[in-house]
Amino acid sequence: MREKKGRKVRRPVIAGNWKMNKSLAEAEELASGLKERLKDFDDADVVLCVPSLYVESVANLLSDSRIGVGAQNLYWEEKGAFTGEISATMLKSVGCEYVIVGHSERRQYFRETNQDVNRKAKAALTAGLTPILCVGEVLREREDGRTEDVVSKQVVESLEGMTEEEMLSTVIAYEPVWAIGTGKTATPEQANEVHELIRKLLAQRHGAEVAENVRILYGGSVKPGNVYGLMQEPDIDGGLVGGASLDAGSFEKIVRFERQGP
Ligand code: PGA
Repeated sequence: MREKKGRKVRRPVIAGNWKMNKSLAEAEELASGLKERLKDFDDADVVLCVPSLYVESVANLLSDSRIGVGAQNLYWEEKGAFTGEISATMLKSVGCEYVIVGHSERRQYFRETNQDVNRKAKAALTAGLTPILCVGEVLREREDGRTEDVVSKQVVESLEGMTEEEMLSTVIAYEPVWAIGTGKTATPEQANEVHELIRKLLAQRHGAEVAENVRILYGGSVKPGNVYGLMQEPDIDGGLVGGASLDAGSFEKIVRFERQGP
C-alpha cells in the first residue's frame, strides 16, 4: 500500500456530476470521448453521474470500459404510487452502479433532510448501488465557526443505523457549499481538516475498519489546476466534480491528477 504524508492511500474515486446538463446526443458524445481518452487508465474508480434519463444509454456505451455510471438522486421506496420518482431498483435495472445522495442542491432547493438522505442511502445499498453521500456547510455556517457542528450532525444523521458492511460500500463527499460552482475552492488544508473530522466520527461510530477504508471525496470547484494539491492530503481520496466534468479534456486532466500551474 502506497503512503502519502505517512498515511494509508485508499483507491481514489473521481466522480463527475453532470447535474441538469446536456442533450442525449451531447451526453453520449462526452461519455464516448472519455471512454477513448481513459482506455488505458486504471489508477482510480471513475464514475459519471448523469441525468437519470441518460443512465441506460451511457451505461450501454460504457459497458466495455472501466468507467462506472451513476445517477444524481433516487427515491427510497421500491415501487408504487410516487408519481415522477425513480427507485434504486429501477436505476440498477438499467445499468446504474452509483448514486449521489444528499447533494447540497437537493438539500437546498428540494428541502431534503438528513433523514431523507439516510433513507435514500439505505435504499441504494439494498439495491446494490454505491451511494455517494454528500455533506457540507454553507458560507454563513463557516463564518460563524459552525462547520464542525453542521458537518458532524449531517454525518451522524445521514449514516444512522448503517451496518459496517453498508458503510464499507458507501462513499462520502465533503462539499463546502460556498465552494460549489463559485470558483472558490477550499484550500487542501481546509478540506483535509473536515475530512479528518469525518474520519474521526466514523471511527467513533462505526469502528476503525470503516474509518480506515471509507473513501471521502472533496467537491467544490475541483479543476485541473487544483486537483493535484487536494489529492496530496492524507484524508482526501478523490473528487466530486461538477462544472469541470462537462468537458472531456478537463475531466481527463482531473482524473489523471495532472500537476499544473493555476
Ligand atoms: P462544482 O460542483 O465542481 O461545479 O463546484 C461540484 C458539485 O456540486 O458536486
